[in-house]
Amino acid sequence: MIKRLKGFSDLFPPEVDKYLLIERMAREVFPLYNFKEVRIPILEKTELFARSIGDATDVVQKEMFSFEDKKGRVLSLRPEATAGVVRAYIENKIYAKESISKFFTIGPMFRYERPQKGRQRQFHQVNVEVFGSSSPFIDSEIICMLMHFLERLNINDVVLEINSLGCSSCRREYQKALKDFLDRLDERELCDDCRVRREKNPLRVLDCKSPNCQRLYESAPTILDFICEDCKKHFSSVQNTLKKQNIDFVINKRLVRGLDYYQRTTFEVVAKGIGAQSAIAGGGRYDGLVKLLGGPDVPGMGFACGMERLVQLISFEKQDKLDCYIAPLVEHALDIAFEISFKLREKQLRSECLYDVKSPKAHLRYAHKIGANFAFLIGEEELKNRTITVKNLSTGNQSHVLIDDILNGNFTFLK
Ligand code: HAM
Repeated sequence: MIKRLKGFSDLFPPEVDKYLLIERMAREVFPLYNFKEVRIPILEKTELFARSIGDATDVVQKEMFSFEDKKGRVLSLRPEATAGVVRAYIENKIYAKESISKFFTIGPMFRYERPQKGRQRQFHQVNVEVFGSSSPFIDSEIICMLMHFLERLNINDVVLEINSLGCSSCRREYQKALKDFLDRLDERELCDDCRVRREKNPLRVLDCKSPNCQRLYESAPTILDFICEDCKKHFSSVQNTLKKQNIDFVINKRLVRGLDYYQRTTFEVVAKGIGAQSAIAGGGRYDGLVKLLGGPDVPGMGFACGMERLVQLISFEKQDKLDCYIAPLVEHALDIAFEISFKLREKQLRSECLYDVKSPKAHLRYAHKIGANFAFLIGEEELKNRTITVKNLSTGNQSHVLIDDILNGNFTFLK
């Protein structure tokens, strides 16, 4: 037997209903803020991710599903959506058509991580991006929209953490200070990855997962002590507007995020009670990214929610009722059963017929099992009288309805 790959899931009802609920809520909430849905490819050139997410990040170094295609091009399954949305924004010259663009996209992402609860190799994100505004009001609005979305999903026991990573100039200062700090540490105490990070991209040491490294970095300088006046003003404006909307948050000075493209505002939403993988959403501002990928100097900002983690927090049982179950009791009732099934669906009634001739008892047992509201029994007697026996499965009441009435679309007897 061929089995699925490790870290990949098959989704069936009722779990899949939770994914549908998340998608429905995104499509309901985001358009209130004038976001439009877009669809982008799942496969892109590896270079796109290396350049945008950063060569020295774990995502690019270790976690991509990459391969060569028949022409020797190096491709990767997308580990996240931002890089692809930015590429599509530039390639389709959206910036020439509108000064501000607001997009969301929903779909699978792929990261070769060690699978555990809440961490999959194929997972799904609801992803949001805004292009063309560097206003701190936009940062707040996007964060408020995320909280509004979570609230609509009844996910309330969460903590919003925010930070500022400064702009490229204040970050340079900070990186210098961080590098000095790291250089003072004994090399033998660092993990292999951090030894490389220290040289290539010091900021990345801060999201090292090794507890030993984390302990060493407890006294590392933090970015908030280095951000310039403009970045400070931006960050305090974000905080003030969040407060005005009564959005609770904590400042997490160590929140650097795992992707290199962020500047200024960064944030994560952490949920309680779902284990170690507790970040249900994360995002921030990425003002230099459009330019870095060959577009104009257009600022950007966004976030993504991990759907697998949201699913763990959603408690809902969909009432999966079927309206009508059609039960042919004799072979020559099949034609009329087929016709009636279609008539019912024309009237928006969810109907099922298995075209399987069985006894009334066997049919009714099955109709109860699948949660049908009504069973339509068609046997010899019924065919002779051109009627159907309709049984209300919750009350047990039974009535006889003319086949011609049903074929004429008269379903008042179902009320
Ligand atoms: P990220 O923090 O890498 O950001 O991922 C966002 C969310 O995706 C995480 O908070 C988590 O809920 C979920 N996630 C990530 N990896 C996995 C996994 N292996 N299994 C299950 N869930 C996972 C980004 O991806 C950025 N592109 C977000 C963004 C958009 N920033 C600006 N715009």
